[in-house]
Amino acid sequence: MSGFFRSSIGQKLLMSVTGLFLIVFLAVHLTANLFLLAGSDAFNVVSHFMGTNPLIQLMQPALAAGFIVHIIYASILTLQNQKARPGKYNTVNQKNSSSWVSRNMFVLGGLVLVFLVMHILNFFWKIKVSGDPLLAHIDVDGVHMENAYALVVGLFQDPSLGILYSGLYVVGAIFLGLHLHHAFWSALQTVGWSNDVWRKRWEVIGDIYAVIIAGGFSIIPLYFYFFQ
Ligand code: HEM
Repeated sequence: MSGFFRSSIGQKLLMSVTGLFLIVFLAVHLTANLFLLAGSDAFNVVSHFMGTNPLIQLMQPALAAGFIVHIIYASILTLQNQKARPGKYNTVNQKNSSSWVSRNMFVLGGLVLVFLVMHILNFFWKIKVSGDPLLAHIDVDGVHMENAYALVVGLFQDPSLGILYSGLYVVGAIFLGLHLHHAFWSALQTVGWSNDVWRKRWEVIGDIYAVIIAGGFSIIPLYFYFFQ
């Protein structure tokens, strides 16, 4: 079994399965975050539920493991692919047969990772570890909870850094969308849920998904920076 996960097909399978898990996480995360547009009470109730529900707490180590495995195997496979290429291979042919995104998945993934580190420091770190004055507890329908809404909105509306952070969140969402444009159908193909007919369908469904994710995550900072 361990031999299988050392083979390149086993490694690609692990990267794809964790990638599909992260794709599901993104849909859940975006849905929860869109409650920001419904106002303080709505988002704080959802955020409190996500932060206290035991099942969701159990999923957090799985999520962290999913990210780590995905990044490790993406790095291993990229290094192996680079080594396997002959010194001066025909770049013209390669450019014709694959898209810019598919040739730069590792770079795009790296940029999403840079965004993710910043993002974890902005919110998750403050909520779970360091605390922040903006998080001061509030009561919603008699339930005591942290004001996560004030923390998020405070970042996008910060008088000096709001424009920078709002811009970085939109750029991060665009990188993520581009990464998904290739990742979605490619992961499904690797796990064997694709064929000649379904490949085209997954490409279209993947692009729709990528636009929803990139657009949805972009709307939030834009809404708070420009319209609130
Ligand atoms: C407008 C954009 C976004 C907002 C407002 C937002 C908001 C948040 C908040 C408030 C948390 C802390 C949750 C808690 O600990 O209670 C969080 C955590 C997290 N976010 Fe985001 N997020 C955004 C975009 C993204 C994107 C694009 C990704 C993936 C690339 C992402 C990945 C994560 C991860 C992995 C965590 C830690 C796990 C968790 O707490 O669920 N987020 N986000």
